[in-house]
Amino acid sequence: MTDIMWDSEIYEKAADAKTLASSAATPSIADPRQLRNTLGNFATGVVVLTYRSGDHYYGVTVNSFTSVSLDPPLVLVSMQRTSRALTYLLERPFAVNVLGDNQLGTALHFAGKPQDAHLIEWVGDDIAPRINGSLAYFQCTPWAGYDGGDHVLVLGRVMSYGQQDDTQPLLFYRGRWSALAQEAGGARSERSRS
Ligand SMILES: Cc1cc2nc3c(=O)[nH]c(=O)nc-3n(C[C@H](O)[C@H](O)[C@H](O)COP(=O)(O)O)c2cc1C
Repeated sequence: MTDIMWDSEIYEKAADAKTLASSAATPSIADPRQLRNTLGNFATGVVVLTYRSGDHYYGVTVNSFTSVSLDPPLVLVSMQRTSRALTYLLERPFAVNVLGDNQLGTALHFAGKPQDAHLIEWVGDDIAPRINGSLAYFQCTPWAGYDGGDHVLVLGRVMSYGQQDDTQPLLFYRGRWSALAQEAGGARSERSRS
């Protein structure tokens, strides 16, 4: 993976994560920071959930997205109970925008670090507003919400979806933003020619 940049108050520094991961001592289950850092070894993509309220469009950056079911088509996100978005996601359509590696500013914008508002190019005439140029999107209606401790598990039923073939994903790993290494693709195509 190629590092894009590091800046997050929400997730702990990668240096801490590395120290903890290589530490001989058994991490304490009672220490949420250690647990969160160790969970950060699971590399993910990054999505922004977008929804409409009145005349305004809103979004929230999330990496707990996962697919659940094909029949019916269901996807899941785990939302902090303190999230302003939670109430809306449980009661109205929302879009899951899978971010490309050129959308780091968008990820930061909807994670509480507002960037230049012109950065966001909306597609407003869909089931829910979505972000133009995303790697993929899933238009959802709320299906169910389940207790997830200090989070709520929100299931959405996929009503429509789409993807762009010429974009690479934005990744999140050990508290760092990443992208797929270019060499990996190059090496693959090199091999397929021989
Ligand atoms: C990479 C990354 C992943 C995140 N994943 C989640 C998540 O899965 N669930 C969640 O509730 N918040 C997550 N957050 C935090 C929210 O983006 C952040 O708290 C946001 O400001 C909440 O906005 P809201 O209060 O308007 O809903 C994540 C933040 C980052 C940077």
